[in-house]
Amino acid sequence: MSTPTNSTKELYEQFVIPTYGRFDLRFARGQGTEVWDEEGKRYLDFGAGIAVTSIGHCHPRVVAAMQKQIATLVHTSNLYYTRPQGELAARLVRLVGHPGKVFFCNSGAEANEALFKLARKFGNESVPPAPKHTVGEMVSAAPSRHTILTMLGSFHGRTLAGIAATGQEKVKKGFEPMVEGFAHVPFNDGPALLAAVQEPGVAAVLIEPVQGESGVNPADAKFLTLARELCDRHGLLLMFDEVQCGLGRTGEWCGWRAIAPEVMPDAISWAKGIAGGFPLGAIWVSDRAVRLKDGATAKLCDLLGPGSHGTTFGGTPLVCAGANEVLAVIEDEGMLANARSLGPHAKAAIEGIGSPLIKEVRGVGLMIGFELVADFEKRVSVPAGRAPSLFMVDQLHAAGLLTIPAGTHAIRWLPPLNVTRAEIDEAAGILRGVFDQW
Ligand SMILES: Cc1ncc(COP(=O)(O)O)c(C=O)c1O
Repeated sequence: MSTPTNSTKELYEQFVIPTYGRFDLRFARGQGTEVWDEEGKRYLDFGAGIAVTSIGHCHPRVVAAMQKQIATLVHTSNLYYTRPQGELAARLVRLVGHPGKVFFCNSGAEANEALFKLARKFGNESVPPAPKHTVGEMVSAAPSRHTILTMLGSFHGRTLAGIAATGQEKVKKGFEPMVEGFAHVPFNDGPALLAAVQEPGVAAVLIEPVQGESGVNPADAKFLTLARELCDRHGLLLMFDEVQCGLGRTGEWCGWRAIAPEVMPDAISWAKGIAGGFPLGAIWVSDRAVRLKDGATAKLCDLLGPGSHGTTFGGTPLVCAGANEVLAVIEDEGMLANARSLGPHAKAAIEGIGSPLIKEVRGVGLMIGFELVADFEKRVSVPAGRAPSLFMVDQLHAAGLLTIPAGTHAIRWLPPLNVTRAEIDEAAGILRGVFDQW
């Protein structure tokens, strides 16, 4: 077939299923924090592909590592061992700093799916800590548990279980009935969590330590600490969805450590920035002991045994070589420290604009969101039917800055972890210019 002559947009309109309301931008190449569209216009990329290109576009070390690997071995399936996957698992366990094991998949939704299956296996096969289940045959009669508590406002992916887990009605509409076994708790509401964990059948609690899709809403340290205590008291798994906030975004390898460093979850999901732009998801699971109904004791990280879970592509030598290099670059180039020092600078730069149209600026490290005032549409003429967040992002596009909308009123800055002070100042200047026109 010859190369089509239609424009890129026409190709999408004719051949791509319209699940996305796309912005009218067509990108051709990127380098570092910059991208260029098909007409050659330059943009500063403060969206990073929704927190994915974590060390910028086309970092030379990652390009070299992946070029070498693509010419050596791309894929073998998980029927066999390959060195890059083993090395990446070891690296991730080291970064968590607690003994455990890793499973590889291809996306955030899949990583969470693995957490859901882990929680079900744990709930079905383990013995809850109630005193009546401590002896003899009572142990095998212990009730199965399968409910996973998640937070209102959370986002956990677009699979059927992912939308059931997600604490936002809009993702569920039209896809009923929901996969059962999920219940939602108001975020950062200790008394509500205390009540929910006491319901029969609860097996696990899943928390996004910094909610991303709902507009950068961090968990309270007290709430994360309480969640750990309650999970210990009731024999539940505490699982963190670090798909967006993990692996450096908050200035820490483990995103929650920027909020509550002493809390240790039982399992973590990752994706997005893990391989700097290549599709890879993963979960880490603690090696903590679990008492099983058959009387045996197992390690939590061995519960998903042979035949219980899998995926053809997860953890190919190619993607793992890339992820190993991305994480090595973050370490070697001190990007966690960069996120810790420039995150507050970026937040202050947005606050410094001092616009009465900005209600609040929130952020942890380089995960930053600002929210427009509720009556933004009344103060600025927004085209009918366009959400203020999308309208704002449109204006920033025209001025050469890529940002990510969240809900109807929030806009996220998720620049690469090696963004420079000068780039942040340039982005703040563009933002100021857009607000100044009003
Ligand atoms: C916290 C969180 N979990 C899960 C997902 C789903 O990841 P993916 O789109 O890779 O399936 C996302 C995506 O935005 C996310 O932000």
